[in-house]
Amino acid sequence: MYDFDTVIDRRGTDSLKWNMEPDVLPMWVADMDFPTAPEIREALAGRVSHGVFGYTELSGEWYDAYTGWWKKRHGFEIEKDWLIFSTGVIPTLSSCVRRLTAPNENVVILTPVYNIFFNSILNNGARVLQCPLIANPDSIDEKCDRYVINWDLLEQYMKDPQTTLMIFCNPHNPTGTVWDRDTLSRIGELAKENHVTVISDEIHCDLTDPGTEYIPFAAASPVCRDVSITCIAPTKAFNIAGLLTSAAVVPDPDLRHKVWRALNTDECGEPGAFAVTAAVTAFTKGGPWLDELRQYLSGNKSFARSCLYKALPEIRIASGEATYLLWLDLRAYGKDSEELQEKILKEGKLYLSSGEIYGDAGEGFLRLNAACPRSVLEEGLKRLTGVLAV
Ligand SMILES: Cc1ncc(COP(=O)(O)O)c(C=O)c1O
Repeated sequence: MYDFDTVIDRRGTDSLKWNMEPDVLPMWVADMDFPTAPEIREALAGRVSHGVFGYTELSGEWYDAYTGWWKKRHGFEIEKDWLIFSTGVIPTLSSCVRRLTAPNENVVILTPVYNIFFNSILNNGARVLQCPLIANPDSIDEKCDRYVINWDLLEQYMKDPQTTLMIFCNPHNPTGTVWDRDTLSRIGELAKENHVTVISDEIHCDLTDPGTEYIPFAAASPVCRDVSITCIAPTKAFNIAGLLTSAAVVPDPDLRHKVWRALNTDECGEPGAFAVTAAVTAFTKGGPWLDELRQYLSGNKSFARSCLYKALPEIRIASGEATYLLWLDLRAYGKDSEELQEKILKEGKLYLSSGEIYGDAGEGFLRLNAACPRSVLEEGLKRLTGVLAV
């Protein structure tokens, strides 16, 4: 039994999430308020006690840890050669946009989507094509929306000869959608037909609800495998984002060479002293902790849903089966996300992410991060409903 209930004070640790006024409760950026798995802390403590932190290389164990985890957990055989170390998923995305697109070419994204995709695209000279997802009332729970792809628009965007790249999020942040095999295969087909490379950001893949399995994009079909660059990492699931450790999986050898050159040119292809220990331990010893965490997070999400539905009858919530993020449709309570965010901050002392940063489709939405002890979540929900309930 691992402990997810103890509240740990993160103030004074230079935490991005918690660096705000002392009376404000932050439930925004995607990191968790739980300490990482004890197995990882122990391994890192051992590495610290050695005391020498010189340049670090990737060990054979690093390759085995990734390939072993994906085979065992996700039924996907990654070949060791396909793996490239990167200090983070965003460094990989940014490097790949710069290396794989010419100035002003298009990169397609399915919005609302993780806001930093916009930065990676625009900062590297490409253009964003927003393909808004369609929200359909979920057949299981009609206060929920299930997000699906607008295939006509996606096809039109992929066919544009200026489109060379798609950045896909699997599972999807912020809606939590776990994409099915048909969807993945169909994207792969469209990409192949139109000479588009797909970067599949799978950083949230180990945070599915218990009983729900994600399908790696590259595992959906041979076509998907050959058109893809997949970004994976232990950082979201094990709450070690500050350790800067991830990998790109690139099965196609020519594409792999380009990605490897891109990461090396941008100097984000070498691990820090803790990056390898943390990743290896997460993927070889972290399973039991992760499974309990997934139970806890799923309990948090259900708790939040029922509390919000009760207090805010007009709210709608995305029905995603992954991530610890809740995508809240608050258009019945205010059309402008920033105004909603500001009001909740001012009157409720609660800080949530404003929906419009995830694309035009996010206007009137807020994103709530439920990865905290239940008592903290309860307090956050009290603050939110206290402001919005009339
Ligand atoms: C979808 C997605 N990709 C990437 C990242 C960040 O990745 P990294 O810290 O490895 O750059 C996040 C963090 O929230 C995310 O949600």
